[in-house]
Amino acid sequence: MILDGKGISTKLLAQYQKIVQSLSERKPSLAVLLVGEDPPSQIYVDRKTKACEHVGFKSIKKRFSESITEKNLLKEISYLNEDAQVDGILVQLPLPSHINPQKVTLAINPDKDVDGFHPLNMGKLLIGDPTGFVPCTPLGIKVLLEKTLSDLTGKHVIIIGRSIIVGKPLAALLMQREPRLNCTVTITNSYSKNLKELVAQGDILVSAVGRPLFVTADMVQEGATVIDVGINRVEEPKNNRGYRIVGDVDFEKVASKSAYITPVPGGVGPMTIAMLIHNTLKSFMQREKGKIPFQEIPL
Ligand code: GUN
Repeated sequence: MILDGKGISTKLLAQYQKIVQSLSERKPSLAVLLVGEDPPSQIYVDRKTKACEHVGFKSIKKRFSESITEKNLLKEISYLNEDAQVDGILVQLPLPSHINPQKVTLAINPDKDVDGFHPLNMGKLLIGDPTGFVPCTPLGIKVLLEKTLSDLTGKHVIIIGRSIIVGKPLAALLMQREPRLNCTVTITNSYSKNLKELVAQGDILVSAVGRPLFVTADMVQEGATVIDVGINRVEEPKNNRGYRIVGDVDFEKVASKSAYITPVPGGVGPMTIAMLIHNTLKSFMQREKGKIPFQEIPL
């Protein structure tokens, strides 16, 4: 069975759009900052701003040249921190090598950190404080898994990849003490000894390594649920762009062995975008607390 991230995210976005339509005064607003010309980043930022416009947010897109200094980028973030009209601030990663991403993350007001990468929000996730922001891709994967399997209690999740964007926060999220959660999580990476044996133990496998065909059918447990976070460009001379997008997983062969699998594109990617809208609405509700009637943001 194909896990329809696109379909689920479309339904969620429709619910978020309704909430925005119900707001009579100020609308939520997200600022997206892009440094340089990285083609995939340009595509992701376009998708994010389009989703904002679709649900009725105010979207602020700020583009900076590759040569912007770290100091000037931090200054831009500080203006947005101060601006009461801005609910969310997102700096698209990766950044050019002369800019320290940790300094940038730390500079964002944690109350506007809808990416959830600020140490305060990472810490809140680790201690189970629900007032923080959970990074969008892990949150999207959790929602996708819960909607598909309904009860994840005690399941063994193997995560390949230990990034701040996916692997580490996803592990913290899925191991939480929460009804229908409480997963057993193993985080691996491409250097892990006996990776094949580890992956074979997974009731759920999440691959976030960024290498095409990294996960092959012989590695995967029969009947497993497979989440492919990879977005890799491979050359495709016949295609008019000259490339096509594939995940980390050898899709056809792994699909025939697994119970559920996410396609690339159309699986995790759209869920990430929907969760960004969710987090920005959550920020808006927290910031407008006491001024407008509180509404729970559905997941
Ligand atoms: N680059 C890849 N994924 C992400 C993400 O979720 N947020 C940001 N800001 N940059 C990214």
